[in-house]
Amino acid sequence: MLSWPRPSLQLLLLLIQPAASSLLPGNATDGVQEVIVAAILPQTNTSYAWAWPRVGPALQAALDRINSDPWLLPGLSLRLVYRNSEDRDGLCSHSMAPLAAVDLHMDHEPWVFLGPGCTYSSSHVARFTAHWDVPMVTAGAQAWGFWEHGTVTNTGPTHKKLGQFAARVQDAFGWRHRAVLLYTRDTGDDGPCFFAAEGLYNVLLDRNVSTYHHQLHDVDYRALVQDIRDNGRVVYACCSRDVFRTLLVQFWRDGVDLKDYVFFFINLFADGLEDRGPVRPWFRGDSEDRAARLAFRSVKVLTYYQPPTPQYLQFTEDLKRNAKKMFNFTITDSVYNMIAGGFYDGLMMFSQALNETLSQQRPGPGPVPRPRGDTLTHKMWNRIFPGE
Ligand SMILES: *[C@@H]1O[C@H](CO)[C@@H](O)[C@H](O)[C@H]1NC(C)=O
Ligand SMILES: *[C@@H]1O[C@H](CO)[C@@H](O)[C@H](O)[C@H]1NC(C)=O
Ligand SMILES: *[C@@H]1O[C@H](CO)[C@@H](O)[C@H](O)[C@H]1NC(C)=O
Repeated sequence: MLSWPRPSLQLLLLLIQPAASSLLPGNATDGVQEVIVAAILPQTNTSYAWAWPRVGPALQAALDRINSDPWLLPGLSLRLVYRNSEDRDGLCSHSMAPLAAVDLHMDHEPWVFLGPGCTYSSSHVARFTAHWDVPMVTAGAQAWGFWEHGTVTNTGPTHKKLGQFAARVQDAFGWRHRAVLLYTRDTGDDGPCFFAAEGLYNVLLDRNVSTYHHQLHDVDYRALVQDIRDNGRVVYACCSRDVFRTLLVQFWRDGVDLKDYVFFFINLFADGLEDRGPVRPWFRGDSEDRAARLAFRSVKVLTYYQPPTPQYLQFTEDLKRNAKKMFNFTITDSVYNMIAGGFYDGLMMFSQALNETLSQQRPGPGPVPRPRGDTLTHKMWNRIFPGE
């Protein structure tokens, strides 16, 4: 049986002093006790859906709502502190993020961490937050491994859900065999395609759908077409649009009957599809447009979709206005906003869990001590997965 190449979510071997987490009280002034919530997110690189200019306004909005509610956390006031998780090149960093977490923990004793979003940064920070017994809430950290982690609360779309969606599609059409997973893995990045494919692979494996996976690297398109023909008919591809289009054109050139195939192009944030005008993912304005257009009749593009409820539309309106005001950042790609929505929900859920935890405690003299992280986390989980 094929096995999935395990991702290297290895532990960053920092030696830290245990017992740093003695449930210290927060700072009490004017009878109102301050509770710190700490965000760790990429500061400038808005190609990340969880970049600070995208998410910061949502967290501030949640915070204002919580602090202006006299019943939610009486006697407490939440304050947001923030550190950057990027390295000097503007990339998600698995070394910066845990250092930011340690600094925040030492300086502020936060009661919750929001973020990081990227996979490797999150996996490192999650080990610290588990050790400190402080909840970590994120709308990123989509990889399969966080599902098994047990200490991370995920309020955004995950790759497990993506896999479950694919399993539903496979089921609905009675496809039991030969799903093909194509994915790129560029060194140095956060492996978004690798982890998306991993989610699909694990769920389909559970459902006894046989899969064939292929990592794209210096692609020989002719050989790849043959490889896919030999191994499957339902193809899930996570790669650049150019690679995908070239592959489809090669199928066309080779005279393959594309009616026998279905291709799912994984483009979760609809990158490049939100431009004004008709959606034409095959279009390049070159001599291959015609072949590409015909071949793309076998293609479905998979993107995230947030049902546009009135509340969500209002939320995104406010988000856009505040991103402009706070960060002079113009949001154009609306699919990304659901991640900011996930962070907003995450902070609301945390405050709800905190409310419930504190109301079950006997109030003592002096400041409220920080509740146990696992207690809060479990209360949040009940909310995220009602009935599961
Ligand atoms: C409490 O807050 C005050 C005013 O913000 C600050 O001067 C003081 O250092 C804080 N004390 C602790 C223990 O954090
Ligand atoms: C932002 O991050 C992406 C990876 O998602 C990377 O390709 C790009 O170079 C980064 N941009 C900047 C300006 O740092
Ligand atoms: C998959 O196959 C195993 C072994 O044949 C079986 O025990 C299991 O119930 C199957 N799972 C599903 C979801 O069909």
